[in-house]
This record gives sequence, C-alpha cells and structure tokens, in this order.
Amino acid sequence: MAEKPISKESQARTLRGWMLGLHATHIIDIGGRLGYFAELRRRGGVASAEELATALQLDPWRTEVWCRAACTVGILGCTEDKRFTFAPFMDELLGDESPELLTAHVLASLARDFSAYPQAFRTGATKTFQDHDEDFFFHQSRISALRAPEIVAAARAVRQVEARLAAGGAVMDVGSGSGTVLVRFAEEFPTCQAVGIEPLPYFVAQSRRLIDERGVGERVRVEAISGEQIAFHRQFDLVTMVQVFHELPDQAKRGILRRCHRSLKPGGVLLLVDRCSPETAADLRDRRFTMSILEQWFEVTWGNIVNTRSEILAMLRETGFLVTQDSATLVPTYWTFVAEKQEE
Ligand SMILES: C[S@@+](CC[C@H](N)C(=O)[O-])C[C@H]1O[C@@H](n2cnc3c(N)ncnc32)[C@H](O)[C@@H]1O
Repeated sequence: MAEKPISKESQARTLRGWMLGLHATHIIDIGGRLGYFAELRRRGGVASAEELATALQLDPWRTEVWCRAACTVGILGCTEDKRFTFAPFMDELLGDESPELLTAHVLASLARDFSAYPQAFRTGATKTFQDHDEDFFFHQSRISALRAPEIVAAARAVRQVEARLAAGGAVMDVGSGSGTVLVRFAEEFPTCQAVGIEPLPYFVAQSRRLIDERGVGERVRVEAISGEQIAFHRQFDLVTMVQVFHELPDQAKRGILRRCHRSLKPGGVLLLVDRCSPETAADLRDRRFTMSILEQWFEVTWGNIVNTRSEILAMLRETGFLVTQDSATLVPTYWTFVAEKQEE
C-alpha cells in the first residue's frame, strides 16, 4: 500500500497528537497515584466524579476535571447521566501492576529532569541514576519485576546454562537492582545459588527484604558493592547484566567485563541485556532502535553512554569472551549478547 503523502496539516496533527500524549501520560500517572482507576474498578467500572471523590476523600471539583480530561484523551468514557466508565480495554491496560501504568509513573518521574536540561546542556552538569528519587527507584523496580521471567527464560535458552543451573550451579547478577532476577533464578532452579552485585543502598535494602519474604536467604545474597569491586574467581556458571552496561562509567566498562570473565567457570556464560545505539542513518528509523535512542535521550544528563552493537561486541572480545549469539529478539525490546568463557 502506498504511504500517505505528508502535508503541513498532517505534520501539525502529528504534533498535536504528541502534545495530547504528554497530557495523557500525566493524566494516567496521576489517576494511578490517586487511586481513581482502582476505585472505578471497585465500583464495577462506572462511577460519577462525586462518588470517586467521596470514596477517595479528594476534592470533587478537581476530580471532575480529571475525569473530563481522562475522557477527552480517550482513557475514560462517559454515560448520558455523566457517570464515568473505562474506555474499551483501558480497565485491563491500566491495572495496578500493568506495564502501561507503571511506565506512565516512570515517565512522569523522569519528566521532572527535563526542566534542568537546557542548563545541563550548557554546563555539562550530570544527575546520575543514583541521584534520582525513591519514587523513580520504586516504579523502576516494579517494571523490572515484570521483566524478570523473560531474563530467566533467555538464560534457559542458552545451551549449557539450563543444565548447569539445574545441577546446583551459581549465577551472579551485576547491578541486581531490586533483586527480582536473583529471586526468580532461585525459584526456578531450586538448588542454584545466586549472588547480586548492587551499589545503591535503596536497592540493596529492597532486595534483601524480597529475599527474606520469599524464603530463599540460604541460597541468595546481595553484596553491597559496585561492579568495579567484583573479586570472584571461577565461581559462576552464569553472569547476568540486565539494563546495567550503559549505566556503568564508560572508562570502567572493560574492567568490569574482565571481572565478570574472571568470575565465570570455564564454559560459563555472560548474558548481557541492554540497549544499542544506532550506527547508521537507517537505524534511526528502525523500530528495533527506538527504545535505545529514547533511553539515551532521557539519560543524556545521567553521564550514561549507550554503546553501539559493534562497540559492545568489540569490548566483549577484547576482554576474553567468545560471543556466541547477539539477538534483538531473545529479550523483547533489548539487545542480548551471549558471551562464553572458553576453557583456559
Ligand atoms: C536500570 S537499573 C537495572 C537493575 C536490574 N538489573 C533490573 O533489571 O531491574 C541499573 C542498575 O545498575 C546499578 N549500577 C549502577 N552503576 C553500577 C556499577 N558501577 N556497578 C554495578 N551496578 C551498578 C544501579 O544501581 C541499578 O541497580
């Protein structure tokens, strides 16, 4: 089918759509935080603004305005007697643990950075991952929890990993965040050992709580250190690094890869899951790069560098790994590198 011609009007409509999208993201974020979606669900999917406001002890007029705004961007519907409902599928899509709702919370949290961008672009000032607030860490970790099963599934898909972990092998997760990947490995492989490396005190505390809650403390632990301090030798069958590589200081990346290599047993595997920057003009329009390009954009003042696929491959090879697979599909929306430590 021929593409529609682009006109000034169609471009203006595109711009207006993005502006609406900005509002919609904040309407979703605030609706989730105030409990409007949950309350509407409790009421069988239909309620007046007054009923929502009373149940949640919120201002009725402001609640009415939120409902109207949610309606106009297409999140809610409205009955003839001015009661509000979910627009089709929005009930399901905006459930308490849905990725869509959690992403709106993270985006709203990150949007607070943008007011400092003009000045930061002039001065080079940075605000690192660790400089963000607990609201960001909290929602980020809830999204990570949704991704943990995909990471374990990707590890299982690597020939020797599943057998080694099933036989009581050991896994190290570098930048283990809230610990959901560690706990997932421990739950899926009932005799495996798992060690997390995590420098951020908020995540160390959160992951230790999760380990206690799930009763896996005998086999899972988190070390409150950074990747630069890893000092294991031939202890692990698998090392995972999920959404961490681009967070590492650029000058420390090779050193940390060497430490991961040293930590692996011969035949062990590093699973590096991350974004990849575009390398060609065509990549800018290739959907596989969209999230990578946007991630570099919303982390540009964090001091993070999202490397290209070629750069990551070169660093893995320079640090002694044999790359056996690199895939844009093994973990959806990420690039996954499978790199092996060969027999020494
Ligand atoms: C985007 S989070 C990903 C967390 C977790 N892997 C996940 O998938 O949810 C990046 C993590 O890398 C950690 N990190 C940052 N710098 C690090 C370093 N130098 N060594 C190890 N971890 C680091 C952060 O504290 C954070 O937990």
